[in-house]
Amino acid sequence: MKQNEIIYGGDYNPDQWIRTKEVWLEDMRLMDLAHINSATVGIFSWARLEPREGEYDFSWLDEVMDLLHRHGKKVILATPSGARPVWLAKQYPEVLRVEENGVRNEYGVRHNHCLTSPVYRAKVRQINRKLAERYAGHPALFMWHVSNEYGGECHCELCQAAFREWLKKEYHNDIDELNYKWWNGFWSHDLSSFEEISSPKYRGENHVPALKLAWRRFVSDSHISFMDNEIAPLRELTPDVPVTTNMMRLYTGIDYQKMAKHLDVISWDSYPTWNNYDNTDEANAVAFIHDAFRSMKGGQPFFLMESTPSIVNWKPVNPIPQSGITALSGMQAVAHGADSVQYFQWRKSRGGHEKFHGAVVDHVGNENTRVFRDAAALGEELSKLADVVGTSQKSRVAIIHDWENSWAVDVFCGYFSEERDYSGECIRWHKPFWKRGIPTDVISMDDDFSRYDLIVAPFLYMLKDGVGKKIREYVKNGGSFVSTYLFANVDRDDLCYLGGFPGDGLREVFGIWAEETDSIPKGDGVSVRFDGKLYAGNTVCDLLHAEGAEALGSYGSGFYAGTPAVTCNRFGKGRAYCVAFRADGDFTDAFCEKILYAAGVRSEIPFAVPDGVSVVKRGPFVFLLNFTKQDYKIELDRAYQDVLDGNQKSSVDLPAFGHAVLR
Ligand code: GLA
Ligand code: ZN
Repeated sequence: MKQNEIIYGGDYNPDQWIRTKEVWLEDMRLMDLAHINSATVGIFSWARLEPREGEYDFSWLDEVMDLLHRHGKKVILATPSGARPVWLAKQYPEVLRVEENGVRNEYGVRHNHCLTSPVYRAKVRQINRKLAERYAGHPALFMWHVSNEYGGECHCELCQAAFREWLKKEYHNDIDELNYKWWNGFWSHDLSSFEEISSPKYRGENHVPALKLAWRRFVSDSHISFMDNEIAPLRELTPDVPVTTNMMRLYTGIDYQKMAKHLDVISWDSYPTWNNYDNTDEANAVAFIHDAFRSMKGGQPFFLMESTPSIVNWKPVNPIPQSGITALSGMQAVAHGADSVQYFQWRKSRGGHEKFHGAVVDHVGNENTRVFRDAAALGEELSKLADVVGTSQKSRVAIIHDWENSWAVDVFCGYFSEERDYSGECIRWHKPFWKRGIPTDVISMDDDFSRYDLIVAPFLYMLKDGVGKKIREYVKNGGSFVSTYLFANVDRDDLCYLGGFPGDGLREVFGIWAEETDSIPKGDGVSVRFDGKLYAGNTVCDLLHAEGAEALGSYGSGFYAGTPAVTCNRFGKGRAYCVAFRADGDFTDAFCEKILYAAGVRSEIPFAVPDGVSVVKRGPFVFLLNFTKQDYKIELDRAYQDVLDGNQKSSVDLPAFGHAVLR
């Protein structure tokens, strides 16, 4: 992949304008004006590429590819499996998805396919092969975008059979092993063969957490193997063209950390809920997600495949973000490791479901709109940041946010069922680092820990095989590891560790025993004394015994007042911490300040910024991003070049929702 500029573009649907091709030419003129250098084409074009079974029409796409190339645009070419032609569904009903209630969907909408159907997989492979054969070597072809936002699940008979095969592999074709690991002696649920198993469902088995966990793993694996199937002809015929697929925020239906290994480039679609008041929390959440996608391939730059240049059409109310916010959002992505800023979409559809979704070109059809001017201004700015392309930062801090753990957290019954909010917990723990401009990776429990000085693992309830040992080694060798409540309670089948929590050998490493877990009703709280101050906790807390660990903080309320709430155990050369309650931002901030100091990790940002202003270093640049509605003047520690206006500065005016890039 040759890339020497930030990719700036978005979803482009010229196939919707085939009857008015003058629009295509106008698109080229407008794209140049907006500094657009790429277009993502063909995402939902199957019916226009194969109007009848086996009858292909690539003429319009040939024209579009050539047109874009003549105008110097790179093409991100999509495969069309996200939506299928009517003929395909009518001819082969098995391609349609069966819902949990056992009823097969009719043709309609998109993302409505069976993940297993051999017919659908063959048809997808075939259309992809045709595309790859036709456009292999085309000078505009820059990247493959397979399908679109994979998601959902199918409960048809084909998927049920595939699930049983998947289970046989998992449990060595031994039903007794499965019975033991799923604890099926409970409620007389012993199975005598794999054939007796089906997907968890409301009107059937939905009280076996290990089954639910296995089903989530299976569905995720099915998406990945569906994707592999569509990638195969692309890799065969266009081995030099990288492959991506667009992921959705922290969507839990697919283990994105696992899926990432099958892709060349990670990309995601970002639709934050920005408002015109204060966006600090949302900015932290989005920063966390960018960090997660960047970390999936060890720090490799990712693509911001979609975002909106103004509004979306699918939230209950869709207020317009004022000028500045879109650019701020795009710059934030680049600061955190994106090598692209792309929109959904380039031109508003004239009809259909998304005709009122924001686009760079509105129905008025020209460049004289606020949204177009904003997009063009951002395009010009991005063209000055080419030196950032390909760069990555080294993080010394990581947060563990693991997809499989998120499933385990979802499926168990007990303690508190509302507000489990695993991702929210990880995002809240990310904030103290984000705020200080400390680069932070977001990793899975399978990743290499030894790259980091400090790892925070909020609500790490389930451990996959070998993770306990990995944590032990990490701490022994000098790492600092922060655990929280309900830490290491179960193994990968949701079987509780015996002999006291945390399990898997970690009781000794952390020097604690968590004897009981208290759940705190909404509106109530628990107080915690730490470093001479009282802090508030909520939702859940563990009652700990310190068995060698030092108590850094203790509960200030409840019958367990005075017992340890925050602990640190020196183990080997490292430190194993436990924060045994769900903490609010004041506590995590104070606590992280202390542990960062102890771990020897300092912010690399040599000047102070107010809350809500994020400073991120990437490559040769320092990004200043103001997520508040206040105007600020930031005093810098020395003279920098303002990359966007070219001036030397020792202070920067940062208006509300404004940004600056310094060198
Ligand atoms: C998703 C899809 C797009 C479009 C946008 C609208 O991200 O991938 O096709 O529907 O949402 O926001
Ligand atoms: Zn199916």
